[in-house]
Amino acid sequence: METKIFDQQHIAEAAAVIANGGLVAFPTETVYGLGASALLPDAVAQVYQVKGRPSDNPLIVHVAAPTQVETYVDNLSPMAKQLMQTFWPGPLTLIFNIKPNSLPSIVTGGLPTAAFRMPDHPQTVALIQQAQQPLVGPSANTSGKPSPTSVDHVWHDLHGKIAGILEGGATRIGVESTVLDLSDPSGTPIILRPGAITKEQLEAVLERDVLLDKHLVSAGETPKAPGMKYKHYAPNTRVMMVKDADWAAATAWAQANHFKVGVLAGPEIAERVRTETAAVYQYFNDSAEAAARGLFAGLRALDESTAGLNLLLAAAFPEEGIGAAYMNRLKKAANHEYFQEK
Ligand code: TXA
Ligand code: MG
Repeated sequence: METKIFDQQHIAEAAAVIANGGLVAFPTETVYGLGASALLPDAVAQVYQVKGRPSDNPLIVHVAAPTQVETYVDNLSPMAKQLMQTFWPGPLTLIFNIKPNSLPSIVTGGLPTAAFRMPDHPQTVALIQQAQQPLVGPSANTSGKPSPTSVDHVWHDLHGKIAGILEGGATRIGVESTVLDLSDPSGTPIILRPGAITKEQLEAVLERDVLLDKHLVSAGETPKAPGMKYKHYAPNTRVMMVKDADWAAATAWAQANHFKVGVLAGPEIAERVRTETAAVYQYFNDSAEAAARGLFAGLRALDESTAGLNLLLAAAFPEEGIGAAYMNRLKKAANHEYFQEK
């Protein structure tokens, strides 16, 4: 299959492909999504197949407006409405109990709930509107690869396998949306996946406590979002997280052991490590925001580097603000390995 690149002038064409059961990747503010009609089970089945995604992992339903959710969910709570009003369009996915059989079970993984989000990207909102149906949109990568933050990444993983990619530049945030479960019978909102919308922001708007899913608090707990149990984002190269105070020791250790080092860190640290170890690859992150934006692109570039790297040292950030989302993804990539003074 030839994969077409659709620009802004060709959104209608991309929408027609979707309405006819085809797959078109779309840009969002977080990462690129792999779009198909959420109402066509055969199209959704292809999304799983093309990604190589386990079928027990439900998909997010992307809508063009908050009112579109009401087709699938009865009696939206005041809390839900407030969150939509405050954060949509934006990087917040909300999980609701849905009307029985209102969505194909292949979308929900057979759960009585479904995840909804309105992306903050005008082209993609137009795509959903013109397709006249909500779109499923898992990240548009092969399962197990870092999520795509540019058209090039999507092309690398999926060209020849999908009908098209809607062009929308590099993504602004770089890590996937916050997933907030509003289906708990007690009414307590629970964060299942950290993202750019933080616990503190949610609590400030709701004026109540928001919980973190058990697996985000203590190791060994099973995550409630099926997707969070998989070992995502694992590059082939060994990744080690380095705390601020440990850079000198980590660099010396890597050098003594003749590693070919890649660095994911701010400019100063990256430059120092490069000078000391002749590290051949470096990636610059200045702040937690920039680190989040550059994380997946950095992991991909490193993995594809022809320099034969065998160790990536990546900067650890405090787990606050978007740093929590960055560390959640980085820990998976690093298999939870921190550099420790040897
Ligand atoms: O930013 C994003 O959310 C991106 C862009 C493209 O919108 N999409 C994305 O989709 O990250 P995906 O499929 O990679 O992640 C969806 C997550 C998975 O961890 C999945 O298990 C969880 O949401 N999820 C979906 N429906 C759920 C449900 N009913 N209950 C619990 N978790 C659910
Ligand atoms: Mg994903």
